[in-house]
Amino acid sequence: MVKVNLGGCDSFVKDADYKVYVGKALEALEVLETGSGAGNDFIGWRHLPSETPESLIKECEEVRDCWKGKGVDLVVVIGIGGSYLGARCAIEALSHNFAKQLSKNRSLSGVEGPEVVFAGNNLSEEYLAEMMDLVSERNVATVVISKSGSTTEPAVAVRIVKECIAKTYKDASERIVAITDAKKGALKTLATQEGYKTFVVPDNVGGRYSVLTPVGLLPIVLAGFDVREMLKGAQEMEKACAVKSEDNPAVKYAAMRNLLYSEFGKKIEILVAYNPKLQYLGEWWKQLFGESEGKELKGIFPASVNFTTDLHSMGQFIQEGERIMFETVVSVEKSNREVVIGSDPQNLDQLNYLAGQRVEHCNAMAQLGTKLAHIDGGVPQLEVSIERLSAYNLGGLFQFFEYACGISAYVLGINPFNQPGVEAYKKNMFALLEKPGYEEQTKAIKERL
Ligand code: PA5
Repeated sequence: MVKVNLGGCDSFVKDADYKVYVGKALEALEVLETGSGAGNDFIGWRHLPSETPESLIKECEEVRDCWKGKGVDLVVVIGIGGSYLGARCAIEALSHNFAKQLSKNRSLSGVEGPEVVFAGNNLSEEYLAEMMDLVSERNVATVVISKSGSTTEPAVAVRIVKECIAKTYKDASERIVAITDAKKGALKTLATQEGYKTFVVPDNVGGRYSVLTPVGLLPIVLAGFDVREMLKGAQEMEKACAVKSEDNPAVKYAAMRNLLYSEFGKKIEILVAYNPKLQYLGEWWKQLFGESEGKELKGIFPASVNFTTDLHSMGQFIQEGERIMFETVVSVEKSNREVVIGSDPQNLDQLNYLAGQRVEHCNAMAQLGTKLAHIDGGVPQLEVSIERLSAYNLGGLFQFFEYACGISAYVLGINPFNQPGVEAYKKNMFALLEKPGYEEQTKAIKERL
């Protein structure tokens, strides 16, 4: 269960003002639930947790088992933005921190799946070349994800990985799975022509809301994690976030962040985690909120930090820099592992005062101390908490944040489900790359240089 605690905002906001924003958030929830808002043909994500059929999970497991039978030990997941970040977030959050280095005792990592690496999320030549060094050493399969089927970054990676797979394996077409639109797009055409297995990205689910479709589910299954649990956790939040009540966690979160933005000039929201495994939750969350809300010269700028690491870098700014931010801490109540600090008779490091304490206790006190310091420094703090890091709770966080994002954007008067601004760079890039059809733009852009 995802819980929201707004106590860290008490000294900043008046209850009456908060209630006004709860009212706005409840209205926005109504708009979302009745499908009467902008972008309402992209709200299919709301019921993915309860409506995902068992047969879809089984289909993902069939791919896993088929590739296991072929001895695949490396899966390259190709995609960008919403076709990448959800899977990466889940896999990083659930994996052993040192899974790759634990060759002698991999069972400690709790999973036995192939290694999953990501490509097609940048245009770095060095990245691709080095990834191909790895590909050439391993038994490889690939999952290509693109809803539109025509995004340049993944298309470039597909061409390179596909060529290598085709040269290396007789069963090449069985080693490539495509996740794309049911009918249209270059990837769909390629998959049909080459006979690749395909999964469909539902029409009514946009990229950044698609982690609980095959876009996220297949890579997570391939990496060896339990998507049934993830969907169960998401189901709990599907119910909780649809309730028309001021206790609805998504309503609470959306109301407070909009109040801080609109009435207190808090234009930056920093997602904070105290566990390095949650770094990519920050990346997924930034895309979700940034691409959903940052439009029409409005929106809260989403940033993320990992504490205590970044307390030794960004902590200074957060404590004493310009007062334009608030924090949302993703708090994990219980650690999955235990490390107790020992006693040292010499105590040269002067740490005996912590002897017998769990490291988790130190982390919790760092979290509490930081909360108090940042509130004293003028940074309101919202807390989104889960009991422990698990597939179940991660599913809950996905569904919770998606709901909160839809509600928040509607409070701001923004369509949360489009991304018109992303086209600007693409047009310039295509003009500069002299893509057929862009002749006029090429001419115009060259005159600017
Ligand atoms: O949220 C979105 O819609 C975007 O971030 C897309 O996911 C991203 O641009 C990738 O698009 P596609 O899946 O069509 O390749």
